[in-house]
Amino acid sequence: MNPTPSHAPGMAVAVIGAGRLGTVLAAALRAEGFDVTGPLGRDEQAPEVDLAILAVPDAAIADAAAAARRTATKIAHVSGATGLEHVDLSIHPLQTFTGAEPPEVFHGLGAAVDGRTGDDRAVAEQLARALGMIPFTVTDRATYHAAASFASNFVLAVLDAAERLATAAGVENPREILAPLARQSVENWERCGAQKALTGPIARGDEATVAAQRAASGEHRDLFDALATATRALKDRA
Ligand SMILES: NC(=O)c1ccc[n+]([C@@H]2O[C@H](COP(=O)([O-])OP(=O)(O)OC[C@H]3O[C@@H](n4cnc5c(N)ncnc54)[C@H](OP(=O)(O)O)[C@@H]3O)[C@@H](O)[C@H]2O)c1
Repeated sequence: MNPTPSHAPGMAVAVIGAGRLGTVLAAALRAEGFDVTGPLGRDEQAPEVDLAILAVPDAAIADAAAAARRTATKIAHVSGATGLEHVDLSIHPLQTFTGAEPPEVFHGLGAAVDGRTGDDRAVAEQLARALGMIPFTVTDRATYHAAASFASNFVLAVLDAAERLATAAGVENPREILAPLARQSVENWERCGAQKALTGPIARGDEATVAAQRAASGEHRDLFDALATATRALKDRA
């Protein structure tokens, strides 16, 4: 496999796993000029390739890697949480994918890359760059993946609670009404960090209003308490 960036698009790549990320990744690599087979389903055998990229659930990586070793020179996965026990390199696009995104969805994303050797890591970086991503490295994958869950999965859990409370308050189109508030909060956080971006009754020390919100939070009381505690800690952090 030639790790020179200008030659990377000539690399023969198999994408294994025809789910959410595998489908988009195969289309994006193809659009960038890679010689791509796939995305391949679980019963399809990859041909001889320079690189097999496993886009399978994390628990399936070991088995899929063992199968891919028969025909691939190098094996990669795209998991954020998994180390290099079964593969040579990894490229984790820091984004959430449904499978319906266009090939250019990777442009401008961060990608956590790793490799068993310096050359493997260089290939991971080149692949990330070829897709328009910005490669970076992490020192602790579990902590990194926890950060990703906070930024995506847990945000959705919080927004779902907001949607349900707004519905209970009689709002007919809660997502449309709440989305500008959520979007502006994210933009403010991106620009100046959470502490400076924080507004609302906890930031103002208006505990009577906080108590009224808590009483109204119904089935979301536990979530309210956890988030109120975290918000107070954020406000008071030196
Ligand atoms: N989706 C995201 O937002 C996202 C973002 C970043 C990274 N990732 C990473 O991408 C990887 C795949 O996630 P996903 O969300 O795309 O999962 P997914 O939608 O569940 O797709 C996984 C696919 O892998 C197939 N599969 C399972 N075992 C296989 C095997 N042994 N050989 C070949 N194919 C096999 C599954 O087929 P069956 O349906 O037949 O089981 C399914 O089509 C994971 O490592 C995940 O951490 C995902």
